[in-house]
Amino acid sequence: VSTHSPLKPTQGVRETIDGPYSVSVGPATSRGLRAQLEAQGLTGRFFVVSCAPVWRRHSARVKDLLGRDRVALMPDGEKAKTLATVSRLYAEMSRRRLDRSTIVVAFGGGVVGDTAGFAAASYLRGVKLVQVPTTLLSQVDSAIGGKVGVNLPAGKNLVGAFHRPSAVVCDPEVLTTLTTRQFRAGMYEVVKYGVIASRDLFEQVSGTLPELMRQDLTALSPVIVKCCEIKLAVAQEDEFEAGARRALNFGHTVGHALEAVTRYRRFLHGEAVGLGMLAAARLSVMRGTMASGAEAALRDLIARLGTLPPVADLKSAAILDAIGHDKKVVRGQLHFVLARECGATTIATDITARELKLALASIGVTR
Ligand SMILES: NC(=O)c1ccc[n+]([C@@H]2O[C@H](COP(=O)([O-])OP(=O)(O)OC[C@H]3O[C@@H](n4cnc5c(N)ncnc54)[C@H](O)[C@@H]3O)[C@@H](O)[C@H]2O)c1
Ligand SMILES: [Zn+2]
Repeated sequence: VSTHSPLKPTQGVRETIDGPYSVSVGPATSRGLRAQLEAQGLTGRFFVVSCAPVWRRHSARVKDLLGRDRVALMPDGEKAKTLATVSRLYAEMSRRRLDRSTIVVAFGGGVVGDTAGFAAASYLRGVKLVQVPTTLLSQVDSAIGGKVGVNLPAGKNLVGAFHRPSAVVCDPEVLTTLTTRQFRAGMYEVVKYGVIASRDLFEQVSGTLPELMRQDLTALSPVIVKCCEIKLAVAQEDEFEAGARRALNFGHTVGHALEAVTRYRRFLHGEAVGLGMLAAARLSVMRGTMASGAEAALRDLIARLGTLPPVADLKSAAILDAIGHDKKVVRGQLHFVLARECGATTIATDITARELKLALASIGVTR
């Protein structure tokens, strides 16, 4: 695994991070996709997987990849991220006699990317995958790193694989059709990258927040590039999640628990992470790894992003219980990601229930 070279802006608008797979970020990167992929040696039969809301608005972007019959639209939303959907994709692929040379193109948010990605990882023991993510969350997070998979009735992401994409193409132009709430949900993950890996990024986001929120591409593109670089670097260093990748879970221990106790109905994932980061920052200050000034800066930035769903009715006991069931519990021990100032992290394995309760109280969970 080679490490990626530093950012190389090309043509002023397109920025490409070279690595074992290429990640292209920038306005109009999803135009002329076939030529772009072929230039990277990705030739074969493309099989595009998307969903109706994305296809309705943006199909023109990938039109040159098709044979019109080679697109499959899967149902929209988290509830479609199932083995049943994967089965239907297999059926479509075999009906079209797609062979080992097929390149699956996942064109949509994280749900499409994870589901189509898992189909690509397993069809004929694996065919190539290209990710063309269309939500902010998928551009900065789910499309990069090679994790694909689906949910089981028993829980989220319980079946999956590591299957690296052959290319990732992040075009921020397609984000304009997201709802503000969806866009903002991705912004919490952007803030997370700042806290865990780059004080510069944190300050860049803080300093250009109004421009970012109105999706000014000159402000937004470099921020997406930076997030992709961080995710790539961390994922490459630790492809199979032994250590460094854990930093990416900052804010996610409490975040996942908030999602679980509200049965995934109240929060978008990013929103729960926003609250989870505040709780994690409080713990970091309590443990002396983060100065209260840095916590205040995070709190301020999250407040400026907008109002988060309410938590006052939730019970801390239920949240603690959900934390106990989290995947981050290793051999009975909770591994909690703390911030070390802004731009680095450390792991604590001895966070007590009492400390967690105090952290939850700081985000408004007082019951
Ligand atoms: N594989 C990983 O490493 C990883 C990491 C983080 C999250 N995930 C997964 O990602 C999923 C969440 O992804 P998401 O937040 O992108 O949600 P999503 O895929 O459900 O997309 C959210 C909504 O936006 C719509 N949409 C997508 N692009 C649009 C566009 N350009 N304009 C208008 N509407 C658009 C979708 O159709 C959907 O209704 C979860 O299943 C999560 O588990 C995976
Ligand atoms: Zn996340």
